Amino acid sequence: MRSDVNAAGPMADPVPGPRSESTERDVSRETLPSMHDTPIGRAAKLAVEALGRAGEGLPRPEQTRVMVVANQKGGVGKTTTTVNLAASLALHGGRVLVVDLDPQGNASTALGIDHHSEVPSIYDVLVESKPLSDVVQPVPDVEGLFCAPATIDLAGAEIELVSLVARESRLQRAIEAYEQPLDYILIDCPPSLGLLTVNALVAGAEVLIPIQCEYYALEGLGQLLRNVDLVRGHLNPKLHVSTILLTMYDGRTRLAAQVAEEVRSHFGKEVLRTSIPRSVRISEAPSYGQTVLTYDPGSSGALSYLEAAREMALRGLEVDCGYQGQESHMPHQHGKYEQHSMPEGIK
Ligand SMILES: Nc1ncnc2c1ncn2[C@@H]1O[C@H](COP(=O)(O)OP(=O)(O)O)[C@@H](O)[C@H]1O
Ligand SMILES: [Mg+2]
Repeated sequence: MRSDVNAAGPMADPVPGPRSESTERDVSRETLPSMHDTPIGRAAKLAVEALGRAGEGLPRPEQTRVMVVANQKGGVGKTTTTVNLAASLALHGGRVLVVDLDPQGNASTALGIDHHSEVPSIYDVLVESKPLSDVVQPVPDVEGLFCAPATIDLAGAEIELVSLVARESRLQRAIEAYEQPLDYILIDCPPSLGLLTVNALVAGAEVLIPIQCEYYALEGLGQLLRNVDLVRGHLNPKLHVSTILLTMYDGRTRLAAQVAEEVRSHFGKEVLRTSIPRSVRISEAPSYGQTVLTYDPGSSGALSYLEAAREMALRGLEVDCGYQGQESHMPHQHGKYEQHSMPEGIK
């Protein structure tokens, strides 16, 4: 895994190169009026500019940031967050790889990547020891974005991995051997804490937990945090929960505000200031094989993911600084959840 192309320079030119014009259909309701007939890349660029920050460029991490998007609950927004944050980071000028680690292959679908059972996939990497470069595909319409797809074969991998050598670190080895320069790798985990998720936790340094702003939001989180502690203790000392993102936030309900407040009071600085609103556009995009960034670049959902990505990129700098001799700045680096009892409300 190399990241030397980055040279920690700014991510200039958020949407370089020509884009497909395949989505010139009406995606207008939440769209800014001036974007209606523009090609999606053009419109996505406008969306970045709409935030008023395109010219500033975003800092690129000095080393590839490998982020594990995990929460063993299904339907909390893991896949949606993975693909839309990844697309946002790419539109901000980064080089980003999405690793689809869910046998459902939803991230592959949302990125418009073919993933029928014949397609070389992350299964071949994990079980057959194929190099990652043999399965990575460029994502159509978003320059700098790549995907290692999942096929249904992956459903058997939890069992097949059990008897293999170094079964917990096969993804980590594959990523380390990957030669292409990357700024970010986002790993979309399945809704379980089995060997696939453990492979992701061993491969990454950062855990990103999407939390749905609904009742029971914190239930089961304790188990995930204990697993993170276990993997940190035994297999991957770098691992820490760096980012928590509130998803499906419905500003009209008091419940959403209560959940958000509860999460912020438990986790504090790991929670991104930006939360992702509940948005029809976000949920429609995957059925067109697209992220919301290309499907409806001016929508509130697209803008909030762009902003969340920006926040993440800027926070990464602080984390980088933490690595340089000031480890105590690393959130959870020293087993916060072991020193303190589990925060109340987290089971
Ligand atoms: N912000 C959002 N607004 C509306 N629907 C959303 C939002 N985020 C996710 N969804 C929808 O919720 C469902 C579950 O999201 P998904 O990302 O697949 O969760 P997970 O990967 O955790 O199972 C999907 O149908 C998705 O389209
Ligand atoms: Mg998913």
